[in-house]
Amino acid sequence: MKIFVTGGTGFVGKTLALALIRTGHEVSILTRSGKGETSGVSWIEGAPTQKGKWQEAVKEHGVIINLAGASLFTRWTEEAKRMIRDSRILTTRHLLEAMDGGKGKTFFSTSAIGYYGFHGDEDLTEDSPPGGDFLALLARDWEAEAKAAEKKGCRVVITRFGIVLGEKGGALGQMIPLFNKYVGGPLGSGKQWFSE
Ligand SMILES: NC(=O)c1ccc[n+]([C@@H]2O[C@H](COP(=O)([O-])OP(=O)(O)OC[C@H]3O[C@@H](n4cnc5c(N)ncnc54)[C@H](OP(=O)(O)O)[C@@H]3O)[C@@H](O)[C@H]2O)c1
Repeated sequence: MKIFVTGGTGFVGKTLALALIRTGHEVSILTRSGKGETSGVSWIEGAPTQKGKWQEAVKEHGVIINLAGASLFTRWTEEAKRMIRDSRILTTRHLLEAMDGGKGKTFFSTSAIGYYGFHGDEDLTEDSPPGGDFLALLARDWEAEAKAAEKKGCRVVITRFGIVLGEKGGALGQMIPLFNKYVGGPLGSGKQWFSE
C-alpha cells in the first residue's frame, strides 16, 4: 500500500516507517527539513501546520498516518503551548483538507492517554470522558479534527498512545542520560500510574 506519514522522522515514526517498508509498503514521509535518515522512503518537504504543495501528494496514498506534533518536553510558556497545540490541530486539519474523496482510505491519527486527565486509581475505558487540563483538552480537540474524516467516507483509527518506551528516544531517551550520571530519581511521588 502507499502510505503517507507525518511525523515520520520522530521517535515512533522512524521505527514504524522501517517496519512498514520491511513488510512491502511504499512509505512517503512529510518533513519540514526536506529529508530524514530512514532509507527506502520517499521524502516530501513541507510544514504540515501550513497549507502547501505537500497537500497534493496526500490523495495519492491509501493510508495516512498522522504522528506530527511539537515536543512536550519543554517549558510550557504560552508560546510553547500554542506550538504544541497548532502542530497537532492544524496538521490534522490540513491533512483532511488534502484528502479529497477519502472513500476507501484509512486515516490513523495519534492521540494520547493524556486525554483522560488525572483519575488516581479509577479504572478508565475508551468510553471514559476527557479530562479538563491542557493536554486533555488538546487530545479531545485533536481527536475531533481527525474524526471529521469519517464524513469523507474515510475509516478513522485514533491511537491513544501511552508512554512509548524505547532505547532511542521518547521518555526513556530523556531519562536514561540522567540516571547514567547518577542524578535520576522517582518522578513526582513515584506512585502515579505509568501507562506504557
Ligand atoms: N512518545 C510518546 O511516548 C508519546 C505518547 C503519547 C503520544 N505521543 C504522540 O505521538 C506522536 C509521535 O510521538 P514521537 O515521540 O514519535 O514524537 P517526536 O519524536 O517528537 O516526533 C514528532 C514529529 O513531529 C514533527 N514536528 C515536531 N515539531 C513540529 C512542529 N512544530 N510542527 C509540525 N511538525 C512538527 C517532527 O517532524 P519533522 O521535524 O520531520 O517535520 C517530528 O518528527 C506525537 O504527536 C506525540 O504527541 C507520543
